[in-house]
Amino acid sequence: MNFENYIRDIQDFPKPGIGFKDITPLLLNAEATQACLDLLVSSLQGKKIDKVVGVESRGFFFGMLLAQKLGVGFIPVRKPKKLPFDTISASYELEYGSDILEMHIDAIKEEENILIHDDVLATGGTAKAVCELVEKLGGNIVQCNFLMELTFLNGREQIAEHEVFAALTY
Ligand code: PRP
Ligand code: MG
Repeated sequence: MNFENYIRDIQDFPKPGIGFKDITPLLLNAEATQACLDLLVSSLQGKKIDKVVGVESRGFFFGMLLAQKLGVGFIPVRKPKKLPFDTISASYELEYGSDILEMHIDAIKEEENILIHDDVLATGGTAKAVCELVEKLGGNIVQCNFLMELTFLNGREQIAEHEVFAALTY
């Protein structure tokens, strides 16, 4: 099953000049989704994972699937003011300005082994902020994994101290 065929290129979205990788055809196909999930899970062989962190919003799809497959809990990292309980936050740079991500303060216990998942590694700003959140709570980052890595944006450099796995690279 070549699940790469289920990722659709959309030109000029969300802005002129940007090529967007649309994963909705992948999500529509259970077999392709399963193949992609299996590849992500195979990269974790021999690693102990206590919890999976998924990043709002496109990191939620496979983040939750990964957590269920691994038989562990799922932690949503959310955009500001979405989480109801006490939170910690980390900011990250956007093309223009910055944004914030938040996590519940009781999501991770000291020394828990954490898998971070998001759909895309682009500039790495998002992933770096999520790593900060996990480490603030004393979590041990086992791997950052992604459906896709846009290698020309060098996002890996932002999270160079961590193991990175991407199911597909462009
Ligand atoms: C996109 C993508 C990643 C992030 C990657 O999310 O889903 O989370 O950008 O970019 P970076 O590596 O340059 O930080 P976006 O913030 O557009 O929100 P969404 O997931 O809710 O669509
Ligand atoms: Mg995202």
